[in-house]
This record gives sequence, C-alpha cells and structure tokens, in this order.
Amino acid sequence: MARVDLDEVRKVYPNGYVGVAGATFEVADGELLVLVGPSGCGKSTLLRMIAGLESISGGTLRIGDRVVNDVAPKDRDIAMVFQSYALYPHMSVAENLAFGLKLRGHDRATVEARVREAAATLELDALLERKPGQLSGGQRQRVALGRALVRNPQVFLLDEPLSNLDAKLRMSMRVEIAHLHRQLGATMIYVTHDQIEAMTLGQRIVVLDRGEIQQIDTPMALYERPANLFVATFLGSPAMNVLRGRLAREDGWALALDDGSRLPLAGEGLREAWAGRELDVGIRPEHLQRGGDGGFAPTVEVVEPVGNEVFVNLRHGAHPLIARLPPGELPQPGAALPLRLDAAHLHVFDPETGRRL
Ligand SMILES: Nc1ncnc2c1ncn2[C@@H]1O[C@H](COP(=O)(O)OP(=O)(O)O)[C@@H](O)[C@H]1O
Ligand SMILES: [Mg+2]
Repeated sequence: MARVDLDEVRKVYPNGYVGVAGATFEVADGELLVLVGPSGCGKSTLLRMIAGLESISGGTLRIGDRVVNDVAPKDRDIAMVFQSYALYPHMSVAENLAFGLKLRGHDRATVEARVREAAATLELDALLERKPGQLSGGQRQRVALGRALVRNPQVFLLDEPLSNLDAKLRMSMRVEIAHLHRQLGATMIYVTHDQIEAMTLGQRIVVLDRGEIQQIDTPMALYERPANLFVATFLGSPAMNVLRGRLAREDGWALALDDGSRLPLAGEGLREAWAGRELDVGIRPEHLQRGGDGGFAPTVEVVEPVGNEVFVNLRHGAHPLIARLPPGELPQPGAALPLRLDAAHLHVFDPETGRRL
C-alpha cells in the first residue's frame, strides 16, 4: 500500500472553468479518506486526476514517493470503482473479475487464484457463472469492487460506489466497505455527496465546495468545530440552525434578531468582544433543550417522530428552527414549546466571511 500526497493540485478545464482550485492534503498509508461535497463541487475531477483519467493543470501529485502527474493510469498502480459499475454485460462475473488481470498479462494460475480469493472475500462464489444482467444492484456493485480487489493495487479510488443502491442496501454495503478496508489495510479515497456516508465511513474527511477545500479533519472534529458556515450546515442531519443577529448583554446574553425578537442564551462561552456585534449563530438541533427558566418558547409547527427521537419544526418570530428531542410526550402543533439554549454549545461565525470566530 502507499500514501497519496497532493500539493496544490489544480484543474482548469479547457473552457477556463476551475474544477479544483489547488488541493493540498495527504492520505496516509492504509487510511480511508472521504471526499465529500455537493454535486458539482469537483469531487470526481479530483479523483480522476489521482487516477490519471483527467490531466493535472498544476501542482504535484505523488503516490508513494513517486511524482505521477504525467504517469499513465495503468502505471499508477491504482484501481477505481465507479458509480456506474462499468461491468462488461456479455461476460460472466468470473470473466469480469479476471479481465483486467489477463489484460495485464498475468498467468492463468495467478488470475484464477486472485479471482477465487476476491470472490470468497466478497461472497461472490455462487455467482461466478452469472452475467451482470442476472445480478441485483448490490451484487453488481460487489463485482465492481471485486474487479478492483483482484488487482491488489496500492490505492483504491471509489467514486460514489453506493449511490445507485437503495437506502438499506447502501447501509449494509457501507459496513462491508469499512470491513474490507480494515481487512486489507488498504489506502482508500472514497467520494460521496452523502454526508452520513462520509461521517460513518471516513477516518478523515475532506469537505469540498465549488472546487475549494473547506476543511479537513476527523468526522467528530468537523461536527464539533466546523471551520465555516458551509461545513457547519453541510454536515449534520437535521442541519444546524443558523440565526443572524446582534449579540446583546442584558441580564445575561441574548441574540437580538432582525425581526425584533430575541433569543436568550444561558451559560458561559460567549466573548465580551462580541457584544454589540452582528453574528451568525449556529445551533445544532440537539442543543435546543426542553426547559423553562431563562429560555424562550417558539411555536411548534410540524412534529416528526422517527422512533428513537423526535424532530420538532418550530418558529421563533420570523425564524424557523428545528429541535431534536428525546422521545416522550409529543409537542402539539400550534403550542408554545419552552426551550433553553446553552451558550457553551453555540457556533459563532463572522457574517461577512462565514468563518468561525
Ligand atoms: N470537461 C469539462 N469541461 C468543463 N467543465 C467541466 C468538465 N467536466 C466537469 N466540469 C465541471 O466541473 C465541475 C465539477 O465536476 P465534478 O468533478 O464532476 O463534480 P462532482 O463529482 O463533485 O459532482 C462541475 O461544475 C462540472 O460541470
Ligand atoms: Mg462526481
């Protein structure tokens, strides 16, 4: 296995569009790194540059200790898995698995051994004679993974490999990929637009938006200390509440909102220097706690019980809020719900730059 090292790697498409604006990060040997961001943010562009399927406009890409900017894809010792599976429909599963190895001139015994091994790892043994058309979506995806596996590459690149599967299958395949990663000790770069997939699978996550890296960290660190408003609102479901207002020091702290309403903030964690200043204040739905004293009472609009918790959509003045509450007696739409906000849990951002303060 190998590490992957990007130094200011850039992609400018021939039409002048900047697909990736200088990406710098390192994937450690054996790490599972996730690239996440909304559709069109440059994830595939970045992965395809690493694979060698897209030329690099600037910067340096290393796999292991070798600069590979101008190395052909087949000589980079990587294997890529695509969302579309890209299986050969007229070939059996066994032939699909063997194809890449044969092409590279491996002898028959080696090919057979590797195919057998990959089929066992991915539980494809019973399907080897079938054609892709006779497989379910999950089985096809497993064959696509198997095709990467038999290559025994230095680095695995996976571009939204689970996007075509239904929710339940996606979850079980996610666990299988995490398991496979551990079993192989492989270096993997995994691309997804799905923040839950990113959070559950990544040892570290690179968050991309509009071709630019927003933050790189472990899932929990990103969740607890998002560097800017984009990361704050992109990760987490339901998304973080964000309210713009002026911070006021009265009996305690309060946020004066543009609609004339105010939001009392109990507890410590705010800085004197912020008093009187306009701020974007972020509140995770789980940090709106039920409680009376020193709180506020927004109006309940829609209640969504999901079993182990309840999402409550609220309105405070002109502002929508969402709270995540433990199950129990459900609040009634139209009622006022007394809530408390602990200042220690707030995320404070500069409204001009969006950066965390
Ligand atoms: N060949 C191309 N020429 C110009 N722009 C492109 C080309 N390929 C992709 N793009 C643009 O680059 C951006 C990033 O694309 P992509 O990397 O595929 O995004 P993602 O995988 O994150 O959805 C998109 O806005 C896309 O339209
Ligand atoms: Mg893509």
